[in-house]
Amino acid sequence: MSKLHLEPLHSDFGARVHGIDLSSAILQIELEEVCELIDTYSFLCFPDQSMSDDELLMFTRLLGEPEAEHITLGRTGKAVYFGTVGNVSDDGTMKGNDHPNTRYQTGNQLWHADSSFRERPCSFTITHAHEVPGEGGATEFTSARAAYARLPQTLRDRLQPLKVIHDYVFSRSQVAPVDPAHAASLPPVAHKLVKKNPRNGCRNYYVGSHARSVVGWSGIASRELIDDLMARATRPEDIYSHQWKAGDTVIWDNRCLLHRGTPYDADRWRRRMRQTRVAGTESGSTLS
Ligand code: OGA
Ligand code: MN
Repeated sequence: MSKLHLEPLHSDFGARVHGIDLSSAILQIELEEVCELIDTYSFLCFPDQSMSDDELLMFTRLLGEPEAEHITLGRTGKAVYFGTVGNVSDDGTMKGNDHPNTRYQTGNQLWHADSSFRERPCSFTITHAHEVPGEGGATEFTSARAAYARLPQTLRDRLQPLKVIHDYVFSRSQVAPVDPAHAASLPPVAHKLVKKNPRNGCRNYYVGSHARSVVGWSGIASRELIDDLMARATRPEDIYSHQWKAGDTVIWDNRCLLHRGTPYDADRWRRRMRQTRVAGTESGSTLS
């Protein structure tokens, strides 16, 4: 019998999982159980974990191929597998509210799916919290699978054949200028609007802040549809707000969830989370 103990977090998705140490050798059967839980719950929080970077990367490899972080890759061509979320530098110093990196990260306060702008978007993000603010800095999540299930059948039928262009430069230049080499590395890409989970067949729609327009549609009609789908997924009752605790290791499924950061005072609080991503298995297409 499984030794995992689950606490559901929201009626649509999400569970807190007790009874496993992710940094130790994980049995194949436990790994399979975790993979199935991700496909079912979309968001898993494993509290009280102790995860060095090496252990985080080792665990990431169990779930699939680590995705090279796109900013360093775009700017320098070098593959690194970690991102740091928050305001603490590698040398431990704090970056305040006015630091360019803190400002840049405010782009994450728009609802999005991680790396939806890549030709092959990541499936999962894994985040381990080392230091968390005493106030603010929660991350909010919502399920586009549950939102899809609420749609009238006529609208589902309309969405089925559509493709949406996701464009990092479009979304991020609204927040901060994008480095030219980085921008050039991320041409706009078209993804199917309706996705299906290969294990359980559950469908969802795939939008978020990087979604620029519907292939073949005018800008205005595209905006209306994308905004309508976003609104249907982000009503207050649809949202689970994750209040981070140091020691949380969280996995979320970007194929079917949207998330956004919430503000915190970076002059006052330290926030340090280390993050890896698992490359997806489905590719969209670039436009030209
Ligand atoms: C992320 C993200 C928002 C936050 O880690 O991918 O979007 O809470 N984070 O900072
Ligand atoms: Mn994100």
